[in-house]
Amino acid sequence: HVLILDFGSQVTQLIARRLRESGVYCEVWPYSNAPEDRIRAFAPKGIILSGGPASVNEGASPRAPDFVFTLGVPVMGICYGQQTMAAQLGGVVEGSDHREFGRAFVDVTGECAITQGVWAPGAREQVWMSHGDRITALPPGFRSVASSEGAPFSVIADDARRFYGTMFHPEVVHTPHGAALLRNFTHGICGCTGDWTMAGFRAEAIARIRAQVGSGRVVCGLSGGVDSSVAAVLIHEAIGDQLTCIYVDHGLMRANESAQVVATFRDRFNIKLIHRDASDLFLGQLSGVTDPELKRKTIGRLFIEVFEEEQNKLGGADFLAQGTLYPDVIESVSATGGPSVTIKSHHNVGGLPEGMRMQLVEPLRDLFKDEVRALGRELGIPEEIVGRHPFPGPGLAIRIPGEVTREKADLLRKVDSIYLEEIRNAGLYDAIWQAFAVLLPVRTVGVMGDGRTYDMACALRAVTSTDGMTAEFYPFDMGFLGRVANRIVNEVRGVNRVTYDITSKPPGTIEWE
Ligand code: XMP
Repeated sequence: HVLILDFGSQVTQLIARRLRESGVYCEVWPYSNAPEDRIRAFAPKGIILSGGPASVNEGASPRAPDFVFTLGVPVMGICYGQQTMAAQLGGVVEGSDHREFGRAFVDVTGECAITQGVWAPGAREQVWMSHGDRITALPPGFRSVASSEGAPFSVIADDARRFYGTMFHPEVVHTPHGAALLRNFTHGICGCTGDWTMAGFRAEAIARIRAQVGSGRVVCGLSGGVDSSVAAVLIHEAIGDQLTCIYVDHGLMRANESAQVVATFRDRFNIKLIHRDASDLFLGQLSGVTDPELKRKTIGRLFIEVFEEEQNKLGGADFLAQGTLYPDVIESVSATGGPSVTIKSHHNVGGLPEGMRMQLVEPLRDLFKDEVRALGRELGIPEEIVGRHPFPGPGLAIRIPGEVTREKADLLRKVDSIYLEEIRNAGLYDAIWQAFAVLLPVRTVGVMGDGRTYDMACALRAVTSTDGMTAEFYPFDMGFLGRVANRIVNEVRGVNRVTYDITSKPPGTIEWE
């Protein structure tokens, strides 16, 4: 495996993604929490220094721990990682007037183990840059392999010590051969075999769960989403009936979702499942609530109350299972050190334990989302669940701006299921990160047959994204949108107008609340 030391770049996680896609297990640690004994215990076959927002010449700018360069393992520095490596090993880095951001081209001037078989000498290659500083003098032992106008040392290599650096980001898709360059580092230079697979992970994870839980009892909050579903099936495979799942139904799920959860987990996987219909409680407490944050907090609070109630009925448990994923685990390196503004206080089923004094079982904490999906397929979980779009913990409540009522939720469920059905029929479901309808708190005038209508309006939303942090609206063709609008207005009594949301994130968010 390989260790990635994070200097705070926005795209560090993509390095880990690329490595794992090529079958190499890796972990991301903050540069500031990588003491020598911890690294030696991890025994990486290679170390990658990520990019970051700092400038090497600023007084207290981050540095790689010096022993990284004496461990005897290959090191690859990316962007800021390359600069700090150069500076720490005796080169010179300077601020530059020629800043390069975004797409750039480099001229390949030589060959090294990183570029071998990927970039031929003499070629001009597209890369993705994001830097202001540049190296002006190489450290002893290094030579330049590629250069651009703004960065004469776009790729540098010290083959003897097996130290390499790129000025650009090979981990992003805008560097077309970037994954192959990284693969040259991990497979070629570090000698990784690329045998990290989901089947192997499954077996290891089951052994780990058994070792942790022993004969203890585990409860798991099931939401019907990918993460808690995969966690539940994996844990069930490890410990069988020592696991009980609790599905708190807040009445704000999509059409047929609750029935599907019960059918899948109780009937198909034989998992002990408590299905608690708490829709009266949730909808009752949401009555009169219009503020989005108050809605979220109300739902989050009730969820914990109901969950604890059900758990007490069981006579308690020793462990709480959660579908925590790797992106939540990676300690973030904050560029400013300051707290960020709360845009939305997320409630999700994974947000349970405050106040619950139970040990956690988190079998997915080493995985990225698409790895969780791969594991789910490996476990035989139906594609409908494994490939499902993300669905927020507060459910339809945050897709009904204004007060939430059962009637509005019923209406929205109908609209939403027509929209999703059309998306599936058009073969577009997997190309979209998330698609849903929003029921707007306005009435508009329409005409149906010879009569006047004065009914609700809805908005359709569909976005592409890789992580939900940024998103682009999906460019449906107008024919498709027209068909969906027609069906909704004709089939859902009470809705007479359909709009399509064409806002990207930022400045919009994906959900409306
Ligand atoms: P926004 O609306 O912030 O959403 O652009 C980004 C992603 O997060 C999901 N989301 C939530 N998920 N609990 C969740 O579990 C929440 O409270 C919540 N709010 C938003 C949203 O669906 C999108 O995928």
